[in-house]
Amino acid sequence: MSFIDWTENERLNIGIIDEQHKDAAELLNELHETLGSNRTFLEKNLVKRMLKHFREHFDTEERLMKESKFPFFISHKMEHDRFYNKIDTFYRKLEQDEERVTLELLNSIKTWLFNHLEINDKKCTKFFVEKGMS
Ligand SMILES: [Fe+2]
Ligand SMILES: [Fe+2]
Repeated sequence: MSFIDWTENERLNIGIIDEQHKDAAELLNELHETLGSNRTFLEKNLVKRMLKHFREHFDTEERLMKESKFPFFISHKMEHDRFYNKIDTFYRKLEQDEERVTLELLNSIKTWLFNHLEINDKKCTKFFVEKGMS
C-alpha cells in the first residue's frame, strides 16, 4: 500500500489542479520509498522537485483565484506561503546535510496537504466551477 492513496474523493473537478495534486501525492510516495535507504542524493533531488512542483501548483491556484476574483485569495495565499517557506527552509538544510527526510516530515506534509485541500482548495475550486472554469 502506498504512503498516500489518492482517490476520487480528492477530485475537485478543475483538471489542472487535480493533476497537480495527484503529482504531489506521487512525489511524496517516491520520497517515502527512500526512507531509511541512505540515498541522500535521491532524497535531495526529490525534495527539490517537490519544491518546484509546489511553486508551480501554488502559482496556478493563485492565478486562477485572481482571474476569478475569488474573495478569500489573501488567506489562501498565506497558507501556501507559510507551507512553501517551511519546505524551502528544510531543503536548504537538507542540501547542507544538516537535515534528513523523516517519516515525521512526510506525515506533516501529508497532513497539511489533506487539510489544505479540504479547507482551502475545495472552497476555491467550487467557486471556479460555479464560474464555469474547468
Ligand atoms: Fe491551495
Ligand atoms: Fe492545492
